[in-house]
Amino acid sequence: MPPVDAPGYAPPPQPRGSALIGRSQALKVVQQEVEYAARSDAKVLITGASGVGKEVVAHLIHQRSRRRHAPMLTINCAAMPDTLLESELFGHARGSFTDAYRDKRGLFEAANSGTVFMDEVGEMSLRMQALLLRFLETGEIQRVGDERNRVNANVRVVAATNRRLPERIAAGEFREDLYYRLNVIHITIPPLRERKDDVTPLLDHFLRLFAVEHGVPLPQCSPDAIAALEAYDWPGNVRELRNIAERLTCRCPGGVIQADDLPLEVRTRSTPAESAPARVAAPVPAQALLDRILLKGESFWDVAYEPFMARDLTRDDVRHLVRVGLEQTRGNYKALVQLFNMEPQDYKRFLNFLRKYGCHMPFQRFRMAPGREIE
Ligand SMILES: Nc1ncnc2c1ncn2[C@@H]1O[C@H](COP(=O)(O)OP(=O)(O)OP(=O)(O)O)[C@@H](O)[C@H]1O
Ligand SMILES: [Mg+2]
Repeated sequence: MPPVDAPGYAPPPQPRGSALIGRSQALKVVQQEVEYAARSDAKVLITGASGVGKEVVAHLIHQRSRRRHAPMLTINCAAMPDTLLESELFGHARGSFTDAYRDKRGLFEAANSGTVFMDEVGEMSLRMQALLLRFLETGEIQRVGDERNRVNANVRVVAATNRRLPERIAAGEFREDLYYRLNVIHITIPPLRERKDDVTPLLDHFLRLFAVEHGVPLPQCSPDAIAALEAYDWPGNVRELRNIAERLTCRCPGGVIQADDLPLEVRTRSTPAESAPARVAAPVPAQALLDRILLKGESFWDVAYEPFMARDLTRDDVRHLVRVGLEQTRGNYKALVQLFNMEPQDYKRFLNFLRKYGCHMPFQRFRMAPGREIE
């Protein structure tokens, strides 16, 4: 088994995702697709916005498949640079790079007979896409630094992304042949705002879960609070609902949750169900975040980093902030550190954070004049 604390690996096996909670028609369709995918051994591509439950679905497919007695190993393709990702997936031979003191199996070998869950597959570089495609076509693993030996691995690949891959294909950023390889069974999970019938059962589920976890009595929800929650748009999807449920459990242990106890955004950004238009893009609280940074002088660490790590903000929210900031600094990351009210010595930490979580953008596209000194 690979070290589970290595970057990009999921935490050790834990009881998670054993059920897909919800009662909407849309979720029933997803549940049927999970059953169908679990019965087959075909590759699965799971798509949907951040926080909709893609990882839960991936776990369910594995747990219900005939591979369930073998491991399911997860890798986040956005969390590490190419060279490390290649070695994590395919392994490496001793001496193939400075710290390679011994031969190491990669994830595909370690998960033999099981499943590999490739999260954020849409973020892979074209080079890594080519290597993955070769593996999917031949089933052969070539360790980094070992040109001669090949081993075979029998793994099922389940991949997920919150990107629209056809758009990335059109932009030349994702290989069409790889897309068709991965996309044998395609499960799309709709955003929570398009399946409002799931809000109450999910809330109920999470309140119970957190009451047990925090050892407090279960709170109840008033009809007004439920109405406000059902009218809300849920830009952060189920993850946002989960976070709010945890806060409410701690705020009103054993009591009755009133509409006033709900977070400000739920109270102020609810749209009555009957007049709610079908939205295409998730509303991102980006302007409010920018105002806090640019007008009120709060730092990026407080406004974006902390909530992002607590999963209250999505990667798209952070990317949006960075994009707007880079537009103002014309691609200059050092100036961005200043603009976002961070200390100059935070520069490296800031860039490392952006790179690690796939929020880094090439400065060139914001550049105005060639030759300008940037970074
Ligand atoms: N239908 C569901 N039933 C129970 N829990 C759910 C459901 N959907 C999502 N969750 C929970 O919501 C949280 C977010 O889900 P998950 O991590 O699977 O989202 P995701 O689509 O993979 O998001 P991202 O694109 O940001 O990685 C998790 O805590 C997960 O357990
Ligand atoms: Mg995920």
